[in-house]
Amino acid sequence: MDDESGQRELLGGFLTRNGYDVTQADCAEAALNVYHTVFAPVAVVDMKMPGMNGLELLRRLKEINPFIQVLVLTAFGSVESAVEVMRAGAYDYLTKPVEDLQELILKLEKAAAQNKLIVDNQAMRERLNEIFPIPEIVGDSEAMVRVKEMISLVAPREATVLILGPSGTGKELVARAIHGLSKRADKRLVAINCAAFPETLLESELFGYEKGAFTGAEKAKQGRFELAEGGTLFLDEIGEMPLTMQVKLLRVLEERCIERLGSVKEIPLDIRVLAATNRNLDQMIAEGRFREDLFYRLNVIQVALPPLAGRTGDILLLAEKFIEKYARKIGKEVSGVEPSAARILTAYGWPGNVRELENIIERAIVLTQGTSLTEKDLIGLSTTVEPTRSRQVRLLAEVEKEHIEHALNTLDWNLSQTAETLGIHRNTLRAKIKEFRIAQKN
Ligand SMILES: Nc1ncnc2c1ncn2[C@@H]1O[C@H](COP(=O)(O)OP(=O)(O)OP(=O)(O)O)[C@@H](O)[C@H]1O
Ligand SMILES: [Mg+2]
Repeated sequence: MDDESGQRELLGGFLTRNGYDVTQADCAEAALNVYHTVFAPVAVVDMKMPGMNGLELLRRLKEINPFIQVLVLTAFGSVESAVEVMRAGAYDYLTKPVEDLQELILKLEKAAAQNKLIVDNQAMRERLNEIFPIPEIVGDSEAMVRVKEMISLVAPREATVLILGPSGTGKELVARAIHGLSKRADKRLVAINCAAFPETLLESELFGYEKGAFTGAEKAKQGRFELAEGGTLFLDEIGEMPLTMQVKLLRVLEERCIERLGSVKEIPLDIRVLAATNRNLDQMIAEGRFREDLFYRLNVIQVALPPLAGRTGDILLLAEKFIEKYARKIGKEVSGVEPSAARILTAYGWPGNVRELENIIERAIVLTQGTSLTEKDLIGLSTTVEPTRSRQVRLLAEVEKEHIEHALNTLDWNLSQTAETLGIHRNTLRAKIKEFRIAQKN
């Protein structure tokens, strides 16, 4: 798309001979007219044309097809317009007259590859969202979008998933979503909280027993492994499982069969296992409190939930959701939060994460006399917490710093791996390293 027909025809002819599907237009208006029908992945646009200029054309093309990649031809030596062009969202630019035709091809190929990447990625996300919407999990922060994508990807597979995250971040919610989107969704999800039973009870809960297996075993009982047959077993608070039970669990995961207590009959198992913990398993392994071999069995796929305080955008979305839920439950007409209340909610450190937010909102709905939540309704947060807040935030920051430092050292300062493990973006990790002045020890 060039006003100088000579250049345009030359380039067009060259590209056609090289196997490209080329459509030419002699001005921006003509280009827009044909673009609706050709929908090409890449456009080569001259900066200076009579009528609409190149930048305006670029903008209009992107309106029609947001994924289009535009190469702009700028006059030789006009650095300013090159910068302007890139800022306006061009993929790259070439200076006129184009003499190095190989360079043109190279840039076209790169632009086309970029287009394909974006289109494929977008299509995948849309498809995942269509097949597996997860409306019950609220949050559009980068970290939560990644978590949801991960869930959609792993749910249909049979792989064991280890769900990590601080208390109240939604680990159980994630486990339920994975089961609900899996092929086992019409079978049971059997959950067991490993922290809720003393060791011997945990064993009989999991494995079941025969009549007379121990004093008090008056009749035979199926364990949770058996109850989950065909479905999913969710081992919650796996970090609290005693070492001896860890060995027994590992054996089950390897052999996929169990024996009830007091029986030698092997019962084959067809279950999918999900496990969750708020503990730092790496550290527990280092301290000999968690078996490394069991960790690897469970950690086939890892979903890490970020703390709520790091994702302020989600706080208000979640607040809205909980307001709706409890307003309906209690039968009050409350919707939304006042700006002053929103500020308090987003500034608070949320050590109890989403569960704490849910409790705060529930209480606020009970207390409120208005139709939207105000600063006053969050009294628990603004008065009892405010005076100690600076101290609390500082402590949280310390914990965060320590945790990041530990992750970095464990992963040999591999930034991308560490960022991924922590469930944050690499740039966020870099910023935090700088903010906390974390230095690599040698
Ligand atoms: N992203 C989210 N969207 C909607 N609700 C959420 C989200 N995350 C957590 N919740 C809600 O917060 C509460 C706590 O979540 P959940 O019990 O799954 O957390 P958890 O990580 O298992 O906590 P714990 O470590 O204390 O067991 C639940 O009521 C859950 O529904
Ligand atoms: Mg839980």
